[in-house]
Amino acid sequence: MAFIAVGVTGGIGAYKAVEVCRGLQKQGHDVVAVMTRAATRFVGPVTFEAITRRPVITSQWKPGMNADIEHIAIADGIALLVVAPCTANVLGKFANGIADDFLSSLYLATRAPVLIAPAMNSNMLAHPAVQRNVETLQARGVQFVEPGEGYLACGWIGRGRLAEPADVVAAAVRMLGTDAGINAASDAGAVDSGQGSVLRGRRVLVTAGPTLEDIDPVRFLGNRSSGRMGFAIAAEATRRGAKVTLIAGPTRVEPPVVDEVVRVRSARDMHAAVLQSAIRADVVVMAAAVADYTPAAPAGEKVAKTDGPLTLRLERTPDILADLGKMTSRATGVPLLVGFAAETGNATAKAREKRTRKGIDLIVANDVSRADAGFDVPTNAVTIIGSDEEQDVPVQSKERVAAAILDRVERLIRSRAATPARA
Ligand code: C5P
Repeated sequence: MAFIAVGVTGGIGAYKAVEVCRGLQKQGHDVVAVMTRAATRFVGPVTFEAITRRPVITSQWKPGMNADIEHIAIADGIALLVVAPCTANVLGKFANGIADDFLSSLYLATRAPVLIAPAMNSNMLAHPAVQRNVETLQARGVQFVEPGEGYLACGWIGRGRLAEPADVVAAAVRMLGTDAGINAASDAGAVDSGQGSVLRGRRVLVTAGPTLEDIDPVRFLGNRSSGRMGFAIAAEATRRGAKVTLIAGPTRVEPPVVDEVVRVRSARDMHAAVLQSAIRADVVVMAAAVADYTPAAPAGEKVAKTDGPLTLRLERTPDILADLGKMTSRATGVPLLVGFAAETGNATAKAREKRTRKGIDLIVANDVSRADAGFDVPTNAVTIIGSDEEQDVPVQSKERVAAAILDRVERLIRSRAATPARA
């Protein structure tokens, strides 16, 4: 049984949140409802009180509410924060760290995982401002239940309707289940606040996103990497108390808040930035999709079109991981090196070969031909390959995959207990 806070915000779908609370209770969980002011205009708090058998939190200004600093007490106690329905307004507050009511303060104060079920008019949902907020939250590890299509309260027909309560409950149960599994598998699980993690205080360098190789001032060669996998790893390492440097190629998705974000463009830029930072790192995770080839002679002026074909001569880029694998300090096992192998077939066999050839500790094999894994989707399925063990991580959110990868990194650090953390 887990203690779950259900945030209810001011959308017409607020009445469906009653079903969400009920569904969670049927699964044996203890629920507290937290309503925004606008939500109370749609449904009476008494309804939630009767269902949850707990006082409903509707304001931080209610007498008594501050006696035991309720939002901090709840923030510490909950295993999950579910917000259903979540309005564009509350999404915006969460994404930007605004804490002007109980629910938005709770979001900032808790270290529990967060599940959001947005509900709003289709145009609001599609607006770049809202989409950017969703991406920001996703990059921070927040999970979403996609809104459904259908008749909207405003009279429109389209996407934006609150997901079915049963789907919200199923997603919540899945999150709790995975968290329990991760906690059981490691003493520094993803849902604790990082207190017990061996990564606490260590320097972790993560690369993410694509690199872009310029052909001329207008055109470039790139790839489909969104940066999400590397961002999830950087966010999770930060949660576990590591000092994180994130070196990222150009991405549309916002990077998470970490100690340092270094933006680069080309494979050559990334090579220079990584080698400079890796000297101080305890762990390097190369999740970036680094170009293997770059135009040999990028043109200074835009290449003019002719009637005939165009031939581009490409040359190899430096292999960053292989260069790190040759670092002399590696004799002591520091920095611990993790690479990714994005393949479209026979991923595990190719990854095994790559791990030994590049001289790295772990490689994460990723079959990018699957629709639910790899580039530009929020989920992934991987095999984590080390010298001693191969572990299949079935399809799940990139945040959970990141936690599984870091659990493995932690196990490796612990097994090399003699390795001191760098100052
Ligand atoms: O050899 P391949 O490119 O498939 O290896 C993938 C791994 O190597 C990834 O972790 C990627 O970030 C890294 N890589 C690199 N330098 C390159 C190309 C890939 O570090 N030039």
